[in-house]
Amino acid sequence: MDFKEHIVQKIIDITDLDREVVENAIETPPDEKMGDLAFPCFPLAKVMRKAPPLIAQELAEKLADDEIIDKAQATGGYLNFFLNREKVISSTINAVENSGSDWGKSDLGNGKTVLVEYSSPNIAKPFHIGHLFSTAVGNSLAKIYKHLGYNVQSLNHLGDWGTQFGKLICAYKKWGDREVIEKDPINELLKIYVKFHEEAEIHPELEDEARGYFKKLEDGDEETTALWTYFRDISLVEFKRVYDMLGVEFDSYNGEAFYSDKMDEVVDILKDKGLLTESDGAQVVDLSELNIPPCIILKSDGATIYATRDIAAALYRHRTYDFYKNIYVVGIPQSLHFKQIFSVMKKAGWDWAEGCEHVGFGLVKLPGKNMSTRHGDVVFLEDVLNESIEKTKEIIKNNGSNVDDIDDASKKIGIGAILYTFLKNSREKDIIFSWDTMLDFEGESAPYCQYGYARGRSILRKAEGIDFKNADFSKAVSDETYSLVKHLGAFGDAVKDAADKNEPFYINRYVTTLTKLFNKFYNTNPIMRDDVDEETRKARLAIVDAVTTVIKTALNLLGIDTVESM
Ligand code: ARG
Repeated sequence: MDFKEHIVQKIIDITDLDREVVENAIETPPDEKMGDLAFPCFPLAKVMRKAPPLIAQELAEKLADDEIIDKAQATGGYLNFFLNREKVISSTINAVENSGSDWGKSDLGNGKTVLVEYSSPNIAKPFHIGHLFSTAVGNSLAKIYKHLGYNVQSLNHLGDWGTQFGKLICAYKKWGDREVIEKDPINELLKIYVKFHEEAEIHPELEDEARGYFKKLEDGDEETTALWTYFRDISLVEFKRVYDMLGVEFDSYNGEAFYSDKMDEVVDILKDKGLLTESDGAQVVDLSELNIPPCIILKSDGATIYATRDIAAALYRHRTYDFYKNIYVVGIPQSLHFKQIFSVMKKAGWDWAEGCEHVGFGLVKLPGKNMSTRHGDVVFLEDVLNESIEKTKEIIKNNGSNVDDIDDASKKIGIGAILYTFLKNSREKDIIFSWDTMLDFEGESAPYCQYGYARGRSILRKAEGIDFKNADFSKAVSDETYSLVKHLGAFGDAVKDAADKNEPFYINRYVTTLTKLFNKFYNTNPIMRDDVDEETRKARLAIVDAVTTVIKTALNLLGIDTVESM
């Protein structure tokens, strides 16, 4: 039942205001004591030539109570509505029970495709903590859009092309050792790549050699292509290990290389439209009217670059998916790059470019050296995940908790804790990485929410055999119950807000508040205690069941798993 809609209709009936005006005006009062919903009468003052408090008073008198509205009360210029608690509770709990994990879903996105490009690490380079930020946000956004009915495609735009591969191939031919590489692929490739730069300082001719190799690669030469494929394959094995740990999957791994044969067309189109101008030998699109530096399309040696590949990729995505939105979850340092390519696309007259959006995020700060790593200065994500799992295992052991499978639980909690940390604030804020906050089972953390869920599940296990379907809620209307159930009803709005702003933190805050309200509820409303009568117990069990369903659904939208006992 849509209670807001009910009130909107009532107000329309007695005021003959437009539906839209009423719908937009209705708000939730800041304090629950002031009612469940409020209609501010200020906009009516002009039309009715009366002071708002007077209008509120008149409306309150005109409004007949019904089985849903317990009381309509004028307070200042507001008309405050108090809903019938039993009605709200029974209707919400029944609705959640019926929808299960579909709670909060909508058909908003039906027939529309949203592309979420995220993670996009560079092959032969470490998957670092910035890529984890992108992976956490992108994975969550993909799930959020799916919940709203969009057809979602998760894209991994691998960094697998560019002149650096000429350098890597050159380095490999000089110092590479397959056997050593196989043992620790990314780290070894990184080592020879670094060595290339050191050597090139002393022997600048190496740069020419590397350029030659990249040229060969571009021309499809067999040997260099085989090497490149090898680097890409072993890198993907490494990345996929991390994705498996995180439970992340992609629909496409088409990286930059995939677009290497699709750039000539872009260059031709831009040339035809008269958008290319020469600048120091390079071909660029001038963007001075937007006060941003020109976008380089072809370098002076004729080689294409990152931006050209991105433009080709966007065109390909438009043709392949006819997207409604094409979202790039990439760090804020690349803001200018996206501004440039989107502007070029708009100048080319591609109206679908309006659907392209850069979703940026902040930096990850690692205070001090509290991260153990096998790899010297570089922080490998896999090590961070494993460290979190180990630390969680210690905490679980020390807590003396009764988990069924400590390895499974430590993994879900340890990884959940990291994901939560990346999703808890507005994504543009920097993150200070701290084990203590992340793994604080009582603070605002994943373990806190997972614990709330496990707590609820354990209550339900104790109640096995009790049928709480069709419970009677007339005695389960305490303040704590009511606040909790109202929050259950707000889940759909949180999902929409998260998608509107491309900000998973709305879900994060939602589920943290839900867990807090749930804790208050079961601390003040005993369930299995002997002195609780049967009907009240059933009603409370039905609420626990609904809450656990929604905590799980919300955490899953963040990519976080739940555990049955903790
Ligand atoms: N591979 C890049 C990096 O690690 C990110 C790619 C972002 N996506 C894009 N379409 N440009 O910085």
